[in-house]
Amino acid sequence: MSTSTKAADSATPAVEVSGLSKVYASGHQALKDVNLSIRSGEIFALLGPNGAGKTTLIGIICGLVNPGVGHIRVDGFDVVREYRATRKRIGLVPQELTTDAFETVWDTVNFSRGLFGLPKHPAYIEQILRDLSLWEKRDNKMLELSGGMKRRVMIAKALSHEPTVLFLDEPTAGVDVSLRRDMWQLVSRLRDNGVTIILTTHYIEEAEEMADRVGVINKGQIMLVEQTSALMHKLGKKSLTVQLQEPIQAIPEALSGYALELEADGSELTYTYDTQSDHTGITGLLAAISAAGLHLRDLRTKQNSLEEIFVDLVQEKRA
Ligand SMILES: Nc1ncnc2c1ncn2[C@@H]1O[C@H](COP(=O)(O)OP(=O)(O)OP(=O)(O)O)[C@@H](O)[C@H]1O
Ligand SMILES: [Mg+2]
Repeated sequence: MSTSTKAADSATPAVEVSGLSKVYASGHQALKDVNLSIRSGEIFALLGPNGAGKTTLIGIICGLVNPGVGHIRVDGFDVVREYRATRKRIGLVPQELTTDAFETVWDTVNFSRGLFGLPKHPAYIEQILRDLSLWEKRDNKMLELSGGMKRRVMIAKALSHEPTVLFLDEPTAGVDVSLRRDMWQLVSRLRDNGVTIILTTHYIEEAEEMADRVGVINKGQIMLVEQTSALMHKLGKKSLTVQLQEPIQAIPEALSGYALELEADGSELTYTYDTQSDHTGITGLLAAISAAGLHLRDLRTKQNSLEEIFVDLVQEKRA
């Protein structure tokens, strides 16, 4: 992608949020003491359930929502005191798509560049449209496009003024699997050109595929920020529940090496293992259960869900 690179000094974080809290006029506290530093040139995924505060956080960084308490810097500039300097560095693809239905793709993207007071640059706009596979559609009206195409036009619009930091709020919500892959590729091409990318998602798979680092947000609080690989390790846990034919009072000594939990009045043993490790230990466990004289009624496995991981994280924090 030929998006021009205007990366700031790489030691300056692309985005720095410190002590940010936000209470909406309704009295709802959407963000609680958020501290976050996004490195220049990285792809950062903000992962969290509905209502976690993702859009609010992005809105504040982009200067669309009043910040409340705290400080935010973009490429070293303060988003409140130096609003114009920060806004021109930022491209935003909002969660809700809003476009003028009767305008053409070409006009939509060009107009957006003009809003930033930049001189026309047709060659640059052409390149963006080609990169987003929209060039053939340049003379189509927005209402003639599919949802996935409209979303790509929104990305083109957000890139029209050559931002250094791009926010994608739920870029693949409602987008089919193959288009989602195209989007992932596009995002990594943008990053290769030096654009810092911050995206929100509900999908662990998406964070895994795209992001260098992941921040988990829940109820307005950042629960953790980690390298994607480290987070995936945590998410890779699965549990195996063994239903016994006869309930037992205690876990037999012979099984003490397995960190089992006895549940359901002694009729179930639950074993948690890491799906990403070479040895899950399941075969040995089943043999040991049998050797201990216990008889199985049934087995079931369960993948940790995002919801449970959030609960785990909350409990870890409290511990
Ligand atoms: N303008 C507003 N006034 C009052 N409350 C708001 C406003 N905007 C958002 N909220 C509330 O703030 C909380 C965070 O909302 P936000 O849109 O930031 O969540 P989100 O993480 O983006 O959720 P989703 O995944 O559903 O997009 C929610 O409880 C929401 O109802
Ligand atoms: Mg949102």
